Amino acid sequence: MKPLIIGNLKVRIPIVQGGMGVGVSLSGLASAVANQGGIGVISAVGLGMSYNLKGKYSKQANIDSFRNEIRKAKKLSPKGVLGANIMLAVTNFDELFKVAIDEKLDIVFVGAGLFIHKPTTVTTEEFLNSNTKFVPKISSARAAKLTLKVWADKFGRLPDALAIEGSKAGGHLGFKKNELIKGTQSLHNIVRETKIVISEYEKEFGVTIPIIAGGGIYDGTDIYKILKAGADAVKMGTKFVTTFECDADIKFKEQYLNINKPKDIVLIDSPAGLPGRAVNNDFLKSVAAGTQKPVKCVWQCLKTCNYKNVSYCIAEALFNAANGNLKDGFAFAGTNAYKAEKIQTVKEVFDELISEFKYIAAKNRNYKQKYDYAVCVSA
Ligand SMILES: Cc1cc2nc3c(=O)[nH]c(=O)nc-3n(C[C@H](O)[C@H](O)[C@H](O)COP(=O)(O)O)c2cc1C
Ligand code: SF4
Repeated sequence: MKPLIIGNLKVRIPIVQGGMGVGVSLSGLASAVANQGGIGVISAVGLGMSYNLKGKYSKQANIDSFRNEIRKAKKLSPKGVLGANIMLAVTNFDELFKVAIDEKLDIVFVGAGLFIHKPTTVTTEEFLNSNTKFVPKISSARAAKLTLKVWADKFGRLPDALAIEGSKAGGHLGFKKNELIKGTQSLHNIVRETKIVISEYEKEFGVTIPIIAGGGIYDGTDIYKILKAGADAVKMGTKFVTTFECDADIKFKEQYLNINKPKDIVLIDSPAGLPGRAVNNDFLKSVAAGTQKPVKCVWQCLKTCNYKNVSYCIAEALFNAANGNLKDGFAFAGTNAYKAEKIQTVKEVFDELISEFKYIAAKNRNYKQKYDYAVCVSA
């Protein structure tokens, strides 16, 4: 695997751990991934929830705990590449973005909406010339085109990289529910189309915009195929849930180990206003059956959540699940979560992915040398 180069940032192994809220990817998982040479990502969403019991649950608690997690991760991985995932849908997006810049994180991923506005909390100088890399998350070549056009016209600069998330990912998804049911374009095709869109802008600005692709990438063969399709790195969330270092409770991880069949992973309509993918359980079944859960909206944490009409509070449900209370919550998961068989260390995951990748790459090289006209692994 070639290193991922984002401007002056070099990532030895082109594997990015997807940010997972609420409390699933914090400093523990992020630092472990960074120590293996990938990018470790803290999810900034809902962090203030853990301050709830201390009576401090507020917007400020969210900001304070995000800063704490960044500092903890930096101590645990002083030389690793560390980032954050901040959802545009959260009410305090601008403040969290500012924390990431102030704490000098290497990279910030921004999803759950189109990242086409400068956060109000940062100066134009900070936005244009920050050493922190800015990476919008998109799910189509069309969204890539719009994002690049706005950045070029409005800011006179381009994003440092693009994260493309396909429809097989866990968590909230950038597709409409009916598209997901009917079947969406494959991640490979979105990558190929986005590469064409990017190349025009790369020429105009004289820069390179790497593609980080995720959603359904689970083993070394998946990595090989998507890099062949033109991605420069992969983003993986589901695979890292079943690690010892993942910050969620063991009961959350066991949900993955106990999935019997792919059908146990379902699409949901999230109160955040987006479809999502999760492990089906009694909580989700009762919501689907129309049960109204008690909603105590402590503060409007999501711009898109109509707290007066939702059947449950998603921040609380995800927080409960990450803390092992699956009776009052549920676990987001990608389509491949059913493949999980055991809890591993992050190092074991990296070793396994790299050796699977090397095996398939060598097999293809041999095949190519023999027949010299095709590759045996098609995308
Ligand atoms: C448990 C879980 C929680 C997630 N939470 C978030 C989140 O809060 N914000 C976000 O932008 N993406 C979230 N994601 C998506 C991941 O960052 C990543 O892009 C995705 O997991 C990649 O697809 P995969 O799960 O098939 O590997 C989550 C994914 C999982 C599995
Ligand atoms: S009800 Fe909605 S806005 Fe209120 S805390 Fe829960 S998720 Fe956030």
